[in-house]
Amino acid sequence: MNILLVGGGAREHAICEAIYRSKDVEIYSVMSNLNPGIKKLSKEFIQENEKNIEKIVDYAKLKEIDIVLVGPEAPLELGIVNEINKAGINACCPTKEAARIETDKDWMRNLLKKYKIPGQLKFKTFSDEKKARKYMEDLNGDVAIKPIGLTGGKGVRVSGDHFNDINEASKYVKEVIDNKIGGKAKVLIEEKAIGEEFTLQAFSDGITILPLPAVQDHKRLLPEDKGPNTGGMGSYSCENGLLPFLSKSDYEEGAAILQKIVESLNREGCKYVGPIYGQFMLTVDGPKIIEINARFGDPEAMNVIPLLENDFIDICKAMINGNLDTKKLKIKKKSTVCKYIVPEGYGFKSMIGEKIFVDEDAIKSTGSILFYASVNKDDDLVKTTSSRSLAVVGISDKIDDAEKICEDALRHINGDHIFIRHDIGTQELIDKRIKHMIELRGM
Ligand code: AMP
Ligand code: GLY
Repeated sequence: MNILLVGGGAREHAICEAIYRSKDVEIYSVMSNLNPGIKKLSKEFIQENEKNIEKIVDYAKLKEIDIVLVGPEAPLELGIVNEINKAGINACCPTKEAARIETDKDWMRNLLKKYKIPGQLKFKTFSDEKKARKYMEDLNGDVAIKPIGLTGGKGVRVSGDHFNDINEASKYVKEVIDNKIGGKAKVLIEEKAIGEEFTLQAFSDGITILPLPAVQDHKRLLPEDKGPNTGGMGSYSCENGLLPFLSKSDYEEGAAILQKIVESLNREGCKYVGPIYGQFMLTVDGPKIIEINARFGDPEAMNVIPLLENDFIDICKAMINGNLDTKKLKIKKKSTVCKYIVPEGYGFKSMIGEKIFVDEDAIKSTGSILFYASVNKDDDLVKTTSSRSLAVVGISDKIDDAEKICEDALRHINGDHIFIRHDIGTQELIDKRIKHMIELRGM
């Protein structure tokens, strides 16, 4: 069976390893950078912009591909799955209509409202700065300001974190509208949710979903969750599939929300096939929906995919064939800690083309898994691009051990211009998150 993987990040490297573990597959890949991990596992690859759909479809036809898997959201928005399907090839990802759940935040919020899905937040969209200001005042300034379309996880600003008063908030609203940040001269104003964030990813065939362990991603650039939002600096998950602040019933509520979203998409005539991602805020009133993504999370994919004992392609086939209800996920009961290595300046102005020395054998000897991200490798040297560079995942029975294993591996990655959030997965940071939730519940 021939599989085509689109994307050259660490999430795609994790997907690639899972495909590689499957029976009787040959991997072909398309990536814009030269990810050495994906390259090694692929029978053949092309270096191509992941948004060049025509080229990718031609390549899929040429290589007689049976299933296409797409990691990043940008090609999904452009309708890569629609075009792949038109060519008579299956894709285990959503069509552009179903992917609107991620690519159009206005549509997403209205869908949740129409189908009365639990976990909603108050919201309105505006093209007029003055009206937006009035709404923000009505919400006492406790808001999140969001561009409507894709911004690579960097367009959202939240009160208290990124601005402190209505004037600053209005300034950003104007910037989003005037500069069409996220593709439209429109802005989404949302009620600010207070609590602890968690990610719930699931496989979906459009009817049934099979949820994966919960993960907490740390999106802020700096230790102690300070600084600007990034694509994610690292993440952790626990052996019981929950999180230290997340109960089984909170998890089940999150999964029920994802199930209802998949059902509502089906009723809208856009069946959702592929991995789906829910970002939730666990508040004192239960989980609230922060965003829904039409793909695996990055870094969160790296926490859950290595734990999957099922044949990955067998699950993909069940998503495509609509018989996910006949499958049961087998997940290793292990904790995971994932830490990203990013170029110095990431989040502001990344240092590009800087060397990173990676001792793959030494990393392997620690028991950690290495996933390459947006790097290039020429002349045997790994070099940074503007995005995240590589990630290390420690896996063990308990979280503290997984964190130590991850840190052991990080000692074998060196460079003069790299940055790592070493606090991710430490007991100290986890205790802070637990304390935060206890304080909120006590208020
Ligand atoms: P998003 O791109 O929508 O995931 O937003 C990026 C980050 O902004 C989230 O991970 C949250 O930390 C924060 N955020 C987004 N929306 C809200 C909200 N309504 N209330 C509080 N924080 C939010
Ligand atoms: N880690 C956040 C995302 O993948 O969108």
